[in-house]
Amino acid sequence: MNFNTKILCIGAGYVGGPTMTVIADKCPQVKVTVVDINQSRIDAWNSDKLPIFEPGLDEVVHRARGRNLFFSTDVALAIKDADIIFVSVNTPTKTFGQGAGKASDLQYWEKTARQILEVSTSDKIIVEKSTLPVRTAAAMERILNSNDKGLHFEVLSNPEFLAEGTAIQDLFAPDRVLIGSHQTPSGIAACEKVVGIYANWVPRERILTTNLWSSELTKLTANAFLAQRITSINSISALCERTGADVDEVAYVMGKDSRIGPKFLKSSIGFGGSCFKKDILNLVYLCEHYGLPQVAAYWESVVNINEWQTHRFVARMLEHMFNTIAGKRIAVFGFAFKADTGDTRESPAHLVVRDLLEERAHPIVTDPKAISEAKRDLKDVLDKVVFEEDPYKASENAHAVVVCTEWKQFAALDWKRIYDSMEKPAFVFDGRNILNVVELRKIGFEVVSVGKGMAET
Ligand code: UDX
Ligand code: UDX
Repeated sequence: MNFNTKILCIGAGYVGGPTMTVIADKCPQVKVTVVDINQSRIDAWNSDKLPIFEPGLDEVVHRARGRNLFFSTDVALAIKDADIIFVSVNTPTKTFGQGAGKASDLQYWEKTARQILEVSTSDKIIVEKSTLPVRTAAAMERILNSNDKGLHFEVLSNPEFLAEGTAIQDLFAPDRVLIGSHQTPSGIAACEKVVGIYANWVPRERILTTNLWSSELTKLTANAFLAQRITSINSISALCERTGADVDEVAYVMGKDSRIGPKFLKSSIGFGGSCFKKDILNLVYLCEHYGLPQVAAYWESVVNINEWQTHRFVARMLEHMFNTIAGKRIAVFGFAFKADTGDTRESPAHLVVRDLLEERAHPIVTDPKAISEAKRDLKDVLDKVVFEEDPYKASENAHAVVVCTEWKQFAALDWKRIYDSMEKPAFVFDGRNILNVVELRKIGFEVVSVGKGMAET
């Protein structure tokens, strides 16, 4: 088949994989190749058991794979062949040297840029998909265009706003697609090419184009603002617990104000995921770098309160369970950072399990999709944690159940059956406020929720 454009994506992760799959599905005239240095990940993309769980993903991969969607580890060959290269390698928080704990670790990014330069034999458009500090594109351009091959590389920014668990939906019908470019003739022309790809299925008015720096910064700030809403409502949850107010009621009524809106106001044991913490810390580092310590402190507090919220929840568990959980079996319902994903990166459940172990409790972890990820995250304490697919078995003889992930399945369980198999008094700590508290109390459970004082109950 003759393809009119050849797209390559470097990095077959949670972002690169689903994004390229949808582009291939929607643009049959475009050849889409996804490469990764991780052979087993690519093997999984080529198999019936995809490396990530994402509702709807299997079906779209099956439609496009082998037709115009290809997964490979031959990075060099794919680079040579491509007109447009999306870079979606991971950019974790730096763990060493200057900026450790906050700045982005750009080593994979730079290595990728140098490899692109080394093997390219024609001009290319390079698209930043990974979330990066503002002005990374400038550094990339310097590396790429410092060549004596006479090649020109135009760097664009096209940040991804998809959320895990709804990635396919978000990609099929995005609120907006953002493409940043230099406002030069070659920048604008490259931008138009990428606009043309998305225009195959996204209404033109939803494709927004800005200058490069605005685009890079928007991704960081969008995540910071979303995380800040959760932290704001979580800070209020602590006050609700002291005063007898109910955080769900407060959030519901606040959300009815159209200026505030209802989304991202669900109080919880804390937000997780690969992006929020990393991106806020990246923003904090940038603010410090540009001499804005007050702005840095403001955003850093969003992350600090988030961690406090999780520790605070475990402290409440302890308080309710007679100040001792040593030796007690505690069923941890959910290890994924949110429902509908097997991803456990920065999951609050991880902190909860560590805190429980600190108190010498015996955690039993159950999750519909994330057991193997949980085992990997807890590999240093495998002898102290039990993993159990079946939530009924996980809660047998337990003193408490703690809900860490908002899986719908948990609300639909037979809680009477769970109650009967547990030690008494049987506690439920609902870290996501998803359970029917009235029903549970009727069965006999002692229920503790986030942001609900005991005063009213
Ligand atoms: C990543 C970034 O972390 C995030 O900031 C950005 O917004 C989107 O891309 P994600 O897709 O969730 O997010 O990361 P991950 O699942 O870790 O995937 C990255 C992939 O890149 C991995 O499969 C890794 O093997 C691959 N990789 C990494 C390369 O192919 N080459 C490298 O040099 C480094
Ligand atoms: C986020 C952004 O939403 C997405 O636009 C960006 O591209 C990547 O980062 P993601 O990390 O996949 O996506 O998940 P998201 O749905 O934003 O949830 C993040 C965390 O916040 C989860 O742990 C979730 O459980 C929690 N959350 C979310 C709450 O505690 N309360 C809420 O009201 C919403």
